[in-house]
Amino acid sequence: MTHRPLHLLLGVTGGIAAYKTAELIRLLVKHGHSVQVVMTEAATHFITPTTLQALSGNPVFVDSWDQRISNGMPHIELSRKADAILIAPASADFIAKLAHGFANDLLSTLCLARECPLMVAPAMNRQMWENAATQRNVTQLQQDGITILGPDSGEQACGEIGQGRMLEPEDLLEGIEAFFTPKLFAGKKILITAGATMEMLDPVRGITNISSGKMGYALARVALRMGAEVTVVHGHTYAACPSVTQDIFAGSAQAMYQTVMQHVASQDIFIGVAAVADYRPEVSSTQKIKKSEETLTINLIKNKDILADVASLPNPPYCVGFAAETEHVLDYAQQKRVAKRIPMIVANHASTAMGSDQNTVTIIDEQGNHSLETDTKENIAYKLLSYINTKVT
Ligand code: CTP
Repeated sequence: MTHRPLHLLLGVTGGIAAYKTAELIRLLVKHGHSVQVVMTEAATHFITPTTLQALSGNPVFVDSWDQRISNGMPHIELSRKADAILIAPASADFIAKLAHGFANDLLSTLCLARECPLMVAPAMNRQMWENAATQRNVTQLQQDGITILGPDSGEQACGEIGQGRMLEPEDLLEGIEAFFTPKLFAGKKILITAGATMEMLDPVRGITNISSGKMGYALARVALRMGAEVTVVHGHTYAACPSVTQDIFAGSAQAMYQTVMQHVASQDIFIGVAAVADYRPEVSSTQKIKKSEETLTINLIKNKDILADVASLPNPPYCVGFAAETEHVLDYAQQKRVAKRIPMIVANHASTAMGSDQNTVTIIDEQGNHSLETDTKENIAYKLLSYINTKVT
């Protein structure tokens, strides 16, 4: 299973958050989805159809009497090809219309005549959101099987602070992706390590590596979409940690070891993606090391192996390792799988995998080698987690 391209009907209603919809369309298209925009008349006062047409690459519809649909039924035709309708922003007025089944413009008629799922991203002033009428209407939408994405809280266009901001485009995209991902890991707990450790030489310098954390974070994001309870223990990374169930920073190999051991007991699956330093300085100076001699010798001592120790616990979770190698990739990875006594290891080439948004991996387990085509780290995460799922159920 990979990330599936979706066709979305994006409804835009009147609200200042409509400016964020432009960015949402750009993101959806970038992720391979196609977008058909339908606006209410009020929405056109906040952003123009021309802008949204240019970003979506499709004509924008506003009017129920639009002659561009040949059978004269845009209120039926436009949603028939859609995997879902998303209303973003959804004004208080439009939510009220949906709750009561009104169909007095193109967008509300499309919603009433739909066969596909409907998602709604509310955006309004906090008092409008908190108003008993809005809350009653939102509860009604939920009872009708409509998915509510957000709202967020924070500073509002009116200057007030509170609940009612539309979710950011990245969060809306996440909500849509999650909605369409089968919940393979419902009820399961997954612990993932990600990023690079830094072994401090003194308060400002350390030994580290070029791991970006992107593969670990992609796995965390997709595992969450698949319904798992996800804990991420991460070192230093070049990417933002996704909003998972729990994320904990552990900067050094020792800190990562302790944090993993504290949280591993109740886990079903452990995936070690972090590039953990094998050695740390024997002495970490409390003050900055001053430049003096021509050469400087640093004594390094071995760190404990997190993955091997988790795998040797009395009742271990299903353990998956990653091996980033620069030569003899498959042989070295297989040797690590055996040495660490883990059922599965994922082999990849360090020079092309580390820091990149793409990866080429081979899964190695007791059944042999399974090579996956080069793909985005997110799609690799989908395939890998789907494969892991066949081993744990
Ligand atoms: N790993 C770990 N703890 C360590 C070292 C590695 O949990 N102290 C995990 C990594 O997260 C990864 C796997 O072991 O899942 C392989 O890591 P890698 O650094 O490639 O292997 P090493 O055993 O350290 O071997 P080498 O550095 O000699 O290649």
